Amino acid sequence: MMDSSYFENFTEVHGIIMYKEFAQYWDDVEAFQARPDDVVIATYPKSGTTWISEIIYMIYKESDVEKCQDATYNRIPYLECRAEGIMNGVKQLNEMLSPRIVKTHLPSEQLPNSFWEKNCKMIYLCRNAKDVAVSYYYFFQMASGHPNPGTFPEFVEKFMDGQVPYGSWYKHTRSWWEKRENPHVLFLFYEDMKEDIRKEIKKVMQFLGRKPSEELVEKIVHHTSFQEMKNNPATNYTTLPEEAMNHKVSPFMRKGITGDWKNYFTVALNERFNMHYEQQMKGCTLNVRTEI
Ligand code: A3P
Repeated sequence: MMDSSYFENFTEVHGIIMYKEFAQYWDDVEAFQARPDDVVIATYPKSGTTWISEIIYMIYKESDVEKCQDATYNRIPYLECRAEGIMNGVKQLNEMLSPRIVKTHLPSEQLPNSFWEKNCKMIYLCRNAKDVAVSYYYFFQMASGHPNPGTFPEFVEKFMDGQVPYGSWYKHTRSWWEKRENPHVLFLFYEDMKEDIRKEIKKVMQFLGRKPSEELVEKIVHHTSFQEMKNNPATNYTTLPEEAMNHKVSPFMRKGITGDWKNYFTVALNERFNMHYEQQMKGCTLNVRTEI
């Protein structure tokens, strides 16, 4: 049963569920002025944003780990994020020297126009919906601003309905898949990164116009492995106050695998999810692996 307090911290922006605090300042997001050398990292939440962010930052710093010691959310500002007195993505970005790396969870049609007008490079990272749902379920419990997600099957219903921040995974993913042939857009998969990280890092380097040297790639592979990032305070979000993220409930760097959904979906839930998935993705050529 949907309890009315579920939506207490949420509202809608252009038809998608959004955190109320972010939505209050939406004009600032829409009016955001991109610069031609900005690089955008776009994802649906819980798709490996932090992982790809660290990889791109390392590429920018030519694998100099010394230059990667500040927290992720300071180095790669989260465009639409707004929490009074704590976080203001637009302000951070406006004050930042170029080149900037911008994190966003917006669907392609909601990305501020300026990024399209300035032909900025954009990297979209996609992760299969089932693992995203599991990861989001734990994130609801550990990160402030989220209601009680209920049982896992209850949460999955909300996820399928798009009743979570950033709305429908299906629409979000499709919105970016439609942009995949735009030469300024690189469409990546979390599952490909899990399978062959070197190949994906080289792809990103090429896209960003960098020469993929073996030495740089190896350093990036090491520094951005799940274990390294889990132990690194700059990337594991433990520098945020416990009120914002409680890692005792569930660590931000939780498991970092493909196929964890099998531990949560019953046979019946999986069948229901698959049927709904087929309907939602009808006519779309996108194929996302749920196991590797
Ligand atoms: P799990 O909850 O499944 O473990 P985001 O950064 O978009 O919020 O995504 C978080 C998810 O990415 C979490 O998934 C987290 O563990 C995973 N992740 C973060 N860094 C990773 C890495 N270096 N390798 C693999 N997965 C990583």
